[in-house]
Amino acid sequence: MSDAAEQTTPYEMIGGAEGVRRLADAFYDAMERNPAYAALREMHEPDLDPMRDSLAGFFSVWLGGPRDWLEKRGGFCIMSRHAKMNMTQRTAAQWMEAIREAMRDINMPAELAEKMDDALSQMARAMAAGRPAA
Ligand code: HEM
Repeated sequence: MSDAAEQTTPYEMIGGAEGVRRLADAFYDAMERNPAYAALREMHEPDLDPMRDSLAGFFSVWLGGPRDWLEKRGGFCIMSRHAKMNMTQRTAAQWMEAIREAMRDINMPAELAEKMDDALSQMARAMAAGRPAA
């Protein structure tokens, strides 16, 4: 390994534990604040605090950081977790818009934001495949 940049994980690029927490908080803040995401907000419980913790834990694992969140749960499949939700193309699109807003709000490095946008878009598309439009 000669290039130190190659060894930098996305988790480090986002700012470690504090960075994933900021992203999760910015995501749910956007969902609570922006009426454009009302249908997505309605799918969630009134108290978003457990989801804030959980999304931060997910991002930690997904971006190559500590895996405690996953280990505590004894594993987790993001697709199965969402499979039984009443998702529509519209709410899936709202999820993507809200995460984009969150990435802008925390001034995520552009290169990382672009990569995450691509990967999350694929996931959201797969989750919403075959669901009704609205
Ligand atoms: C595309 C990437 C996505 C990621 C990475 C993601 C991630 C997560 C995570 C980590 C949780 C917490 C799960 C738990 O603690 O058990 C969660 C919950 C949730 N997600 Fe997603 N999600 C995604 C897409 C979506 C989409 C497209 C929707 C809806 C259209 C959605 C709706 C929800 C809802 C409603 C919950 C809360 C479930 C509950 O209250 O029990 N998610 N998501």
